[in-house]
This record gives sequence, C-alpha cells and structure tokens, in this order.
Amino acid sequence: MHALARLAALSALFSPVLLAAPASAQDVAAGERSWNKCRACHQIGEGAKNIVGPQLNGLFGRTAGTVDGYSYSAANKNSGITWDEAVFAEYIKDPRAKIPGTKMVFAGIKNDKEIADLTAFLKQFGKDGKKL
Ligand code: HEC
Repeated sequence: MHALARLAALSALFSPVLLAAPASAQDVAAGERSWNKCRACHQIGEGAKNIVGPQLNGLFGRTAGTVDGYSYSAANKNSGITWDEAVFAEYIKDPRAKIPGTKMVFAGIKNDKEIADLTAFLKQFGKDGKKL
C-alpha cells in the first residue's frame, strides 16, 4: 500500500476513537490555567461566593441570572439563556455580543480549544461546588 494511503487508512481507524474520548486530564489542567482569566471576578468550588460576578458552580444546566443573592443586570437576568456548552462557547467568545447590556466586562476568549478546556474545567463542579 502506498504510504499516504496507509496513513489515511490509519487515521480513519483512529479518529472515531479520538472523537469519543472523554475530556482528558490535560484538558482540565489547561482549562484551570484559562480559569485564571475569570478568577478576579468569579469563584467556583466548595464555599464559592459571589464576588464581582456570581459563583459558577453547576453552571451547565443552570438558567442565566439565577444565583441566589447576586444582583444581576436586567440583560443577564432576562436573557432567557440556559447554559449549555454551545451557548457558553458563544457567550465567552464575546459576552457583550451574546448578552447586550451585560455588566460582565470581559473581552472574550476566541480560541475554540481554550474554550473547550475551560468548559471541561467548569464542568467538574456540581451545584454544591463538589467535584462530580
Ligand atoms: C471583570 C470581571 C469579570 C471577569 C474577568 C469575568 N466575568 Fe463572568 N461575569 C461578571 C459579571 C459582573 C457577571 C454578571 C453579569 C450581569 O449580571 O450582567 C458575570 C456573569 C457571568 C456568567 C453568567 C452567569 C449566570 O449565572 O448567568 C458566566 C457564565 C460567566 N460570567 C463566566 C465567566 C468566565 C468563564 C470567565 C473567564 C473566562 C469570566 N466570566 C470572566 C464579571 C466577570
């Protein structure tokens, strides 16, 4: 078999496995580094408090604007968003485009891999801040 054809056959064999693989430890570690961009304003994990922004425990599946004791902008509260991976990815690329009028002042993360890593990091934490 021609070397290139063999390579193509090999990658066809392996790519479904790669796609099906769960988020690796490395993704979470990279996501934790990306989380440094959020830490000035958000907490996550056990005992996380609302600071500049709301705590982000159990974010995925959560309705926007619903953390107790946090004073949201009307824009965020009335956005009608339920946070899932797709919506979060759009939002974090450009928060003010997704929710015009949000008081989250953040330029955004444009890199899809970084967003995926950050998502893997955030998804570790359940509603009570414990790792799932
Ligand atoms: C400079 C401060 C600041 C930074 C940095 C920041 N945020 Fe925010 N974030 C806020 C504020 C303030 C809000 C509340 C927005 C509103 O009410 O309009 C918010 C809201 C959010 C929400 C909506 C939560 C909800 O309950 O509806 C998410 C999700 C979020 N931020 C994620 C992030 C992530 C992830 C990062 C880092 C990549 C980040 N933010 C960086 C200040 C910040």
